[in-house]
Parts: sequence; C-alpha cells; structure tokens
Amino acid sequence: MSQENKKTFYITTPIYYPSGKFHIGTAYTTIVSDVIARYKRGRGFDVRFLTGMDEHGQKIEEKAIEAGKPPKVFVDEMAKMAKDLWKLLDITYDDFIQTTEERHELLMAKIFAKFVENGDIYKGEYEGWRCIPCETYYTEAQLVEGMCPDCNRAVKLIKEESYFFNMKKYADRLIQYYSDHPQFILPEFRKNEMMNNFLKPGLEDLSVSRMTFDWGVKVPNDPKHVIYVWVDALTNYITALGYGSDDEALFNRYWPADVQVVGKDIIRFHTIYWPIFLMALDLPLPKTVFAHGFFTVNGEKMSKSKGNVLCPEMLAKKYGVDAVRYTLLRELPFGQDGDVSPVAFVKRVNFDLANDLGNLLNRTVSMVNKYFDGVVPRYNGHVTEFDAELENFIVSTVEKVEANFERMHFSALLADIWALVSRTNKYIDETSPWILAKDEADREKLASVMTHLVESLRQIAILIEPFMPQTTPQVFAQLGITEEASKTWASLNQYETLTEEIKVVEKGTPIFPRLEVDEEIAYIKAQMGSVESSKEEEIKEVEEVPTIGIEDFMKIELKVGQIKACKQHPKADRLLVSQVDIGSETRQIVSGIAEHYKPEQLIGKKIVVVTNLKPVKLRGELSEGMVLAASAEGKLSLPEMIDDLPNGSIVK
Ligand code: MSP
Repeated sequence: MSQENKKTFYITTPIYYPSGKFHIGTAYTTIVSDVIARYKRGRGFDVRFLTGMDEHGQKIEEKAIEAGKPPKVFVDEMAKMAKDLWKLLDITYDDFIQTTEERHELLMAKIFAKFVENGDIYKGEYEGWRCIPCETYYTEAQLVEGMCPDCNRAVKLIKEESYFFNMKKYADRLIQYYSDHPQFILPEFRKNEMMNNFLKPGLEDLSVSRMTFDWGVKVPNDPKHVIYVWVDALTNYITALGYGSDDEALFNRYWPADVQVVGKDIIRFHTIYWPIFLMALDLPLPKTVFAHGFFTVNGEKMSKSKGNVLCPEMLAKKYGVDAVRYTLLRELPFGQDGDVSPVAFVKRVNFDLANDLGNLLNRTVSMVNKYFDGVVPRYNGHVTEFDAELENFIVSTVEKVEANFERMHFSALLADIWALVSRTNKYIDETSPWILAKDEADREKLASVMTHLVESLRQIAILIEPFMPQTTPQVFAQLGITEEASKTWASLNQYETLTEEIKVVEKGTPIFPRLEVDEEIAYIKAQMGSVESSKEEEIKEVEEVPTIGIEDFMKIELKVGQIKACKQHPKADRLLVSQVDIGSETRQIVSGIAEHYKPEQLIGKKIVVVTNLKPVKLRGELSEGMVLAASAEGKLSLPEMIDDLPNGSIVK
C-alpha cells in the first residue's frame, strides 16, 4: 500500500520536565507509547509518534540557575540526555519537540493571540495560592489543610494582573462531549473522576499568564506577561504538526490524535483544559486520552532518600533493553497503579525470558541441528496428533493479542503470548522428538514437530516485536529466517511463508542469560538511589514523621546533643546545617528549621537528636541524624529544659 493510502495514526506522550534523570516511572509513558506506535506500524498504519520536553516556567529557570547555566543551555543538555535515553531504550519517535524551539514559540504565541482575538481570553486580576513545583494556582477552598491539593507542598499567596481563559463558556459542551464519546477518556473510571471532581462542581476561569518570572513565551503585545506553562505545553501536540504555520500538511494529515498517553497525575490538564483549548480553536479533539497508573518500588513512591529509585538506564545497560521493556509492561496492568522491585525484575528475566522463551529457542535450534543438520523441514500440514492443537492455540493467541492491543491491556496481552510460549514448550514434551528420532518410520512426524516449533517461534517473535524489538531479530537470526514476508504481522497464522530453505544457526546462544538471583538483586539494590531527587522531595523527607508502634519507638535512639556550629544551607532557604556534639562524636545534621531559628541563636543550645537514622544527603549536604522539634500552626520550637544533662544522654 502506498504511503498516501495508508490510514494514519498519531500518538503522543506528555512532554517531559527537564528535571534530572528519568526513573522507570517516567520512562514508562514513553515505552508504552512506543509499543503502541510499533504495533500500529506493524499493522500497516502511517504512524506519527511525538515526544519532547516541556522547558519553560519558573521551576526550570530556578533549576538552571542552581546548575549555574543559562536556561536554554540547561534545557538543551537535558533534552540531549532524554534523547540518549530514548535511543538506548529503542524508542522510535518521529518527532521530538522542545517548547523552547522557535517553531513552537512562534506558533504558540499565535494560538494565544487567536484566543484573545476570539474573546476566549480576557485581562483581569488574580489572587490565589500558588504551588511553585506544580506551576498551578488554587483558590483557598481547593487547598487541602492549607497545602497544595496535588502534591501536598506549601503554597504562596499571590495577587497580580493576569489574563484569564473563559473555561465556563465551554463546560457544558465538554460534558456533552464526554457522554457522546465514551472512548475519549480511558480507563473509564478516570472520566468519572473528572466529571465528579471538576466538571460537575463547576469550572473556574483559568489564569493563563504570569508576571512572576520571565522564562517563557511572552503574551503577544504585552511582554510583561509570560504564557502559563500548561497552555504553552499542551499546544505542543499541534505546533509540532505545524498548526498555524505556512505548511500545515502534517497537521492536516495527522490531527486529531488517535491516542494521547498521559500519567494519571496530569489527566485533568489533558481532559479538561486541552479539549477546551481545542474547542476554542474550533479543532477536533483527540480520539482517546489514556491515563496510565503510577509505579511504586516495593510499594513505595520512588525517591532518592528512600534509596528506591530504579533507573531504566542502569537496568537496560546491564540486562538489556528488552528485559526492561518487558518487565515494566508485564508488571503494571495498563491504567492501574503497579509495583516493580529488584526481585520481580530478576524473576521475570529468569523465568519468562531466560527459561521459557530462551530455552524454547535453544532446544529448537539444537534439535533441528541434531535431527536435520540444521535445515528446517518444509511445512506439511498436520502430521502428529498435536499439530492442529498447537496451530489452533496460535490462532486464538493472535486473536486475543489483537483484541487486547485495541483495549491497551498490555500486561494481559503479554500473559497471552507467554501462554503460547508455555504451550509450545509443552508441545515438545507431548511429541517427545527424542523418541521419534529413534524410529525411521517416525521421520515425517519428527520433521513436522521441528517445523511447528520453528513456526511457533517465528510467530512469537512477531507478536513480541512491539515490546521486545531487539529480541525479535535475534530469534529470526537464530532460526535462519531472512525473508521479510515471514517477519510481518500479516504473516501470522500462515505456515507456508518460508518459500526458501532455511537453516538454523549451528550453535544457538542464549538470548537472555540466566541471572544469579541473590547477586543481581544485591547489584540492583546497590544502584538504586542514584537518581537526583528534587529539592522539594528532599525537604519533605525531613519533615515526614511516620506513625509507629511502641516496639518501633524502642528502636529509635534519641540522645541529647549540643550544637557547636551552625550555618545556613548554601542551597536551601529552609535548611540549617549544624555540627552537633552527641557525646561520643560530633555529627553534621541538616534540619528544616531555618524559618524559625537563626544559626547564631542555636550555637551552644542543647537539643534532642535521633542518632540512628540512616544518613542522607540533603541538597548536597550530609545529614547524620535528625533534630527533634515541635511545630503547630506555622510555629516551631526545639525542646527545652535539658541544659543540665551531659551531651550523649539517652532520651526515652
Ligand atoms: N511536563 C508535564 C507534561 C506536559 S504534557 C503537555 C509532566 N512532565 S513529567 O516529566 O513530570 O512527567 C512525564 C510523564 O511521566 C507523565 O506522564 C507522568 O505521569 C509520568 N510519571 C511520573 N512518575 C511516574 C511514576 N512513578 N509512574 C508512572 N508514570 C510516572 O508531567
């Protein structure tokens, strides 16, 4: 089929914040999108796959300053890091957009001007609570116990002139759209969340410009205002296609998007703001916005101070890209939250990949060599009593896989493919080729078994390609399959595609080496925590007080300490760095008390210290313990009346 006649398929990932190394959770969105893009290409679609970076806003400007670099230099370096990771993970994006590129900035400003021109954006005054990390403003009522409702961090009261987007105007239309298009938000429960939490209570107009910083696209004809990052970011999906430019060919070809994959944390932006912006531009809405769940590691959110950050780069370099792609897609039922751990990873590699798939390939290659000098016998229909059943199993697997692809049930779909792997291994046991080989009269049966094994593996290799793009060519190579027509999705369920004689390799090599379980788990654990966590996460870590029972309390070592020296943390306003004498030694302790005490007030003071807390680095400073302090309603005090006790005294 010529490119012109192909059905198009446009898929996007969210564009990433340039905030440091990616962990497996952040890489997941892009891996999933790549799986879908590869599958659709395999099914004959003209696919366009977009990803990129979301590079404006105060948070990013601050990070660049912290790194001592001009913002553009900083974001370009981060974009390069992202591209390197995507290359390593074999991500086949067609376009990578950075919101600081001219092609985006110009069109973005034009879109904003169009909103103003059409009367969708008006100028007013904004007063509200701002969460800097989330780049979001909230009304008092939206705060949860005075904190950001999304990330639970502190918010700041801001009053400023601002442009507003008239969201209310489109609310009813959007509600109607949701009910007319059941595929618009998937999984469906996310739609209910959006309806009940945001649309039904009534939409507020959205403040879409900022005056507090400079790093962004300026409002046309009013450059003291910078366009709100979410307006800037969301429009990337159409500016990347040249919408509003002199050449709208890509836009006309690919818009509306078929699937926009997002994490559950940003669904509101993609299913409320984004469709409303599109309605205001009089453009069709994406067919589906799919929100996936979040990964935890051993049940916990990933963060450096917890030492539980799983880094896709490290895993891919050590165990192979396909092991990472397979494990992530298999472990997390798409749409729900899920967990992955070093143990689960090593088990998946050993059992599913090395044992089930790897052994099947290895046994097949060595039997074809042993019984037929490496030449795969030609297909001859159903010869043994087990052939038809295996073929039927393949037919039903292909059906299930295709259906699950449409539903985006990747974990279930991989389980279906692995059921075929097991079924094929069972076929070897059922047909017992080593017994057939003993009797010349069974030669035809033996030939049929070899053909069916090779065929089953050929089809498995095609089915896994979207997930494991580096394994598929290895399987073909070991089986000696070179004909392109035998490698396509269209060749599934066909048994006579191998028109030329094929010869398996003389000696198969394991596609996935078996791992020493304990050794590899220890290795992965040692590597965890190597990703920089954000400033806010680290501070939050200091502030978090877990609930514990008395038996746990007894495990905590509390001692009287005396602050010998104290200074402001060089990189964090809220932190102080103290040298504390705890009797047996002097420890450096970082604490979030700078808003309440000046360093000079603390020198000489006796305090209570948790001394057996795992050391952490807070914004680059080692902290070997924690200072106890009481706080309420914004006030904070250190415990008093311990001045006459010697340093190192136990506190109970
Ligand atoms: N810049 C915005 C997106 C703007 S799109 C117009 C953003 N960037 S992000 O870098 O914070 O997140 C990128 C993707 O990673 C999002 O889809 C987010 O949901 C996803 N994830 C971040 N942590 C994750 C997990 N722990 N697990 C799964 N996905 C995770 O949001």
